[in-house]
Amino acid sequence: MTATITEQTSLTQLPAWKKLSAHYESIKQTHLRQLFAADPDRAGRFSLEAAGLFLDYSKQIVTDETIALLVALAGESGLRDRIEAMFVGERINLTEGRPVLHVALRAPADAEIMVDGVNVVPLVHEVLQRMSIFAEQIRSGSWLGFTGSRIRTVINIGIGGSDLGPVMAFEALRHYALRDIDFRFVSNVDGTDFAEAVQGCDPAETLFIVSSKTFTTLETMTNARSARAWLVAGLGSEAAVARHFVAVSTNAAEVTQFGIDIANMFGFWDWVGGRYSLDSAIGLSTMLAIGPDNFRALLAGFHAMDQHFRTAPFEKNMPVIMGLLSVWYANFFDAQTVAVLPYDQYLKRFPAYLQQLTMESNGKQVTVAGTPVDYQTSQIYWGEPGTNGQHSFYQLIHQGTRLIPCDFIGFCRSLNPSGVHHDVLTANLFAQGEALAFGKTAAEVRQEGTAEWLVPHRTFPGNRPSSTILADQLTPEILGALVALYEQSVFTQGVIWQLDSFDQWGVELGKVLAQRIVPELAAGNSAEPKHDGSTNALIRRYRDRKREGV
Ligand code: F6P
Repeated sequence: MTATITEQTSLTQLPAWKKLSAHYESIKQTHLRQLFAADPDRAGRFSLEAAGLFLDYSKQIVTDETIALLVALAGESGLRDRIEAMFVGERINLTEGRPVLHVALRAPADAEIMVDGVNVVPLVHEVLQRMSIFAEQIRSGSWLGFTGSRIRTVINIGIGGSDLGPVMAFEALRHYALRDIDFRFVSNVDGTDFAEAVQGCDPAETLFIVSSKTFTTLETMTNARSARAWLVAGLGSEAAVARHFVAVSTNAAEVTQFGIDIANMFGFWDWVGGRYSLDSAIGLSTMLAIGPDNFRALLAGFHAMDQHFRTAPFEKNMPVIMGLLSVWYANFFDAQTVAVLPYDQYLKRFPAYLQQLTMESNGKQVTVAGTPVDYQTSQIYWGEPGTNGQHSFYQLIHQGTRLIPCDFIGFCRSLNPSGVHHDVLTANLFAQGEALAFGKTAAEVRQEGTAEWLVPHRTFPGNRPSSTILADQLTPEILGALVALYEQSVFTQGVIWQLDSFDQWGVELGKVLAQRIVPELAAGNSAEPKHDGSTNALIRRYRDRKREGV
């Protein structure tokens, strides 16, 4: 089924939007201290549970009326129909004319999702089965390299969604990973990335996974060619490629052209967006690390959150509430950024992963109909694992001039229990949310006997909003639920902002210009570059200095 581009009522003309604008005026001076004092039950009311995650959003600057109006906005924006359109495979990625079916990647084997008259779920499970067989071969050591050695190092080559998801998931689930295989990742076209990734590796024991949806991405193909040259030089034969390279892609023709046997290719489909591809074959490195059963548990976690998103009423729907809160702060409080602060070292790459998911999806300036928006779209997402951030940028969140809503993520049980560590970690997590919300008044500071001149410096304004996401333990299921929570929250935001959240035209121009500049930087090219004055001067300087260094 093809969705069509129809002009929607401008977001700012919707009745709920207008009511939210008026409501904002009435609530903007209200402090979280007042909200909690007037409403002792708010922690119970403004919290949700789904798919093993608990969300406390009571420290957000909202009342029942705010939530009711935001939910009304979701209704007026047609969110329910848009969710259904995604799940049944409509071509909701309008500018690319594609369905958006990452939800099919984690659907159970007996589900039915039709694309062009074909049920895609069996295709998904067929690939999962092939991945599982391959994973078992590598993990057990029965897959032998060209010289008969088992594989000891797996290097994923990819960029964007073909890297950030695999790296994040590997780091997040490292606790479950086989420790006798070393997993490495190469993404940057900077030769340093490749050089460091193969440091100390034995080509006879190394497997490269070339992960690229298109198999044409400049960075990935440049790294893949270097990897092939490194391998062939090390093993002395082109024939070695077949035992040491596998591909993950939608583009069989380019994979063959590169020299990888199609038998060693794991496919996916154009209805899987790069930043939504972690649970497709792009997750092969994850499956090799944690094993097929854990990978399926990860998918089950995604699916549990998908089901919740599809069926729960909006006021009890975790991704919907999170998405609406982003809209509330972006559009009414003019918050420019969101800090994502995982209190778990294993989630150290989660903020980086979220940056592509959120900003490549909703960093847009026109609606799906091509009309310029007259409101802000995606916030800037950033963050670091706690407690490191506390000794770095939290100062600004507590006492700076900007409002930065925070998402805290924590776990009740550590995967590495050791003395008091986990209680200390979690105490810090809870303390930060408390300090941000309630602050410390000048009167309280004075009462401690602080000298008057120091009082303003030691005062915390509070009223800085945060949510806390808490789960029992970081398991594959929980990671799946957490990623799906953010995916569907991003979907919710995109629907409200009337965007195509699944295209990424904004990355094209730079790619095209880079392709033009590459030959201009090549040795021996002294032709006058034909760009603007600044770019021309940079190219000339680079060429001159490069030559001098030779
Ligand atoms: O950055 C643009 C982009 O197209 C991303 O959306 C994608 O994840 C990445 O490049 C990598 O693309 P590919 O998997 O085709 O190499």
